[in-house]
Amino acid sequence: MALLTIPAEDRTLADSEGIAAYLAGCGIDYERWIPAHPIAIDASAEQILEAYSGEIDKLKAHGGYVAADVIDVSAETPGLEEMLARFNREHWHDEDEVRFIISGHGLFHIHPKGGPVVAIEVEAGDLIRVPRGTWHWFNLCSDRRIRAIRLFQDTAGWTPHYTDSGVDEKFLPVCFGVSHLVA
Ligand SMILES: [Fe+2]
Repeated sequence: MALLTIPAEDRTLADSEGIAAYLAGCGIDYERWIPAHPIAIDASAEQILEAYSGEIDKLKAHGGYVAADVIDVSAETPGLEEMLARFNREHWHDEDEVRFIISGHGLFHIHPKGGPVVAIEVEAGDLIRVPRGTWHWFNLCSDRRIRAIRLFQDTAGWTPHYTDSGVDEKFLPVCFGVSHLVA
């Protein structure tokens, strides 16, 4: 289950419907794909894409996405810090950032035009779509692990453009989800 916080309003949302409604107001799509398809822990990327082919096809038809793959990141990933450093500063892309989380956790900060920054923690079963042009940044949580399906309209468009606003430095890249408190 995702967790959404709005630091400027000292507000936290932990119910899927409330999170989806709030994010929709920021132009962000959020969904829970429940029930998740059973996937073995050691499933290959091909097996994951096959298990979720129905949902992927729907997203492709809806959002004009042409390709899907699976990103798999852990503390053992070579060059992890360099990779994360590309995306942990406020930026935007020329295409949508679409992620369906298979395992692990991630923390998206979204900076809507004219609205307060919101932090959304995502985990298995969460789909998030950050439309092109949206200011955002991304961190891993303490488990340093995320496996997610990505969808692309055009892989060439997925380069970060940095805002250099400095806003990202005002927010701690810390996850507060229940799964971390009990871990
Ligand atoms: Fe991004």
